[in-house]
Amino acid sequence: MTIQIESSHKPLLQALNGGTPDRVPLWLMRQAGRYLPEYRKVRASVGDFLELCFTPELAAEVTLQPLRRYGMDGAILFSDILVIPYALGQPLAFVEGEGPRLEPVRDAAAVERLTGERVRTMLAPVLDTLRRVRKDLPDGATLIGFAGSPWTVACYMVEGGGSKDFAEVKRFAFGDPQGFALLIDRLVDASVTYLCDQIDAGAEAVQLFDSWAGVLSEAAFRRWVIEPTRRIVQGVRAVHPSVPIIGFPRAAGLMYADYARETGVSALGLDTAVPLAAARSLQGQLPVQGNLDPVAVMVGGDGMVRAAEDILQALAEGPFVFNLGHGVLQHTPPEHVETLVSTVRAFTDGGR
Ligand code: CP3
Repeated sequence: MTIQIESSHKPLLQALNGGTPDRVPLWLMRQAGRYLPEYRKVRASVGDFLELCFTPELAAEVTLQPLRRYGMDGAILFSDILVIPYALGQPLAFVEGEGPRLEPVRDAAAVERLTGERVRTMLAPVLDTLRRVRKDLPDGATLIGFAGSPWTVACYMVEGGGSKDFAEVKRFAFGDPQGFALLIDRLVDASVTYLCDQIDAGAEAVQLFDSWAGVLSEAAFRRWVIEPTRRIVQGVRAVHPSVPIIGFPRAAGLMYADYARETGVSALGLDTAVPLAAARSLQGQLPVQGNLDPVAVMVGGDGMVRAAEDILQALAEGPFVFNLGHGVLQHTPPEHVETLVSTVRAFTDGGR
């Protein structure tokens, strides 16, 4: 581990491996997307969002757009967590202004109808995107692959889209835990294969997005968030032992520490609500990433700069990756992101 920290010239990789590089590395969740005019232009040239995800030339272009504009330390693959259910055979559409729509999977019989056979072929274009990005990646930048965590992906698969109360997915999980476990197991297997394939195609770190980790009781969190994540970490590590895995169990609150310890992730993504003192204590356990409020970036100004500096003051001494607590919002002025990047850069100008 030490050898790798010293030999990598990439600040983001260094921090994810527990080091403190000369400058605080930064990237932003949803750094590519509709707030960027150059993204909207590419997006308008294709029929729908999924077509963009599965057209390697365009997906690679969009992945690199924020790095060209702002020089982030990380490029996150442009794709979506829902390409896995799609590849498992679940019909999926992105409805303009409404988000994803899936044909709900609500019992064991529906889970059995999903097939793992075509996953690799259907996701091949995503791997091609990674190979293209890796070839054009700016020196010093790190390529990040990702998948959704089984619980969050299952939320969309069972609800059939976004949800406010998660009643359907909980009905399935609590009412037929064995049937629901079949779904989670399929997602674990597909995610391990997919993440290993992403690493083979050039991803140097991977993130597991668990956007809805925060809606479960302790027991359900252990069973449907920690346990499947632990199995994914174990499966990926068995093949790629030195590739950092970032876990992002959004809104996990008091469960963050157990999640970090029991899943074995290499680094922890923190949402906006994690207090900085708690973030520091988690940092004693593993590298942390986060956690500026995306709304602060949308609003901009001194408030954003001060909030970013507070985070840096609290966390820059240890292994730390600057990020938001959730994704960049659609109506964020691109200049605010520019100010944010300068703020983070200025903080460690001249080294630390
Ligand atoms: O820049 C990046 O972070 C990489 C690309 C990326 C997207 N989605 C692109 C996207 C990543 C990492 C994701 C992850 C994702 N997708 C999550 C986890 C993170 C989170 O936001 O909580 C989730 C829950 C999804 C599912 C999803 N995809 C939803 C709910 C929506 C609709 C909401 C919306 O913003 O429209 C999407 C669509 C989506 N994924 C867009 C983008 C850029 C917008 C679609 C468009 O451009 O037309």
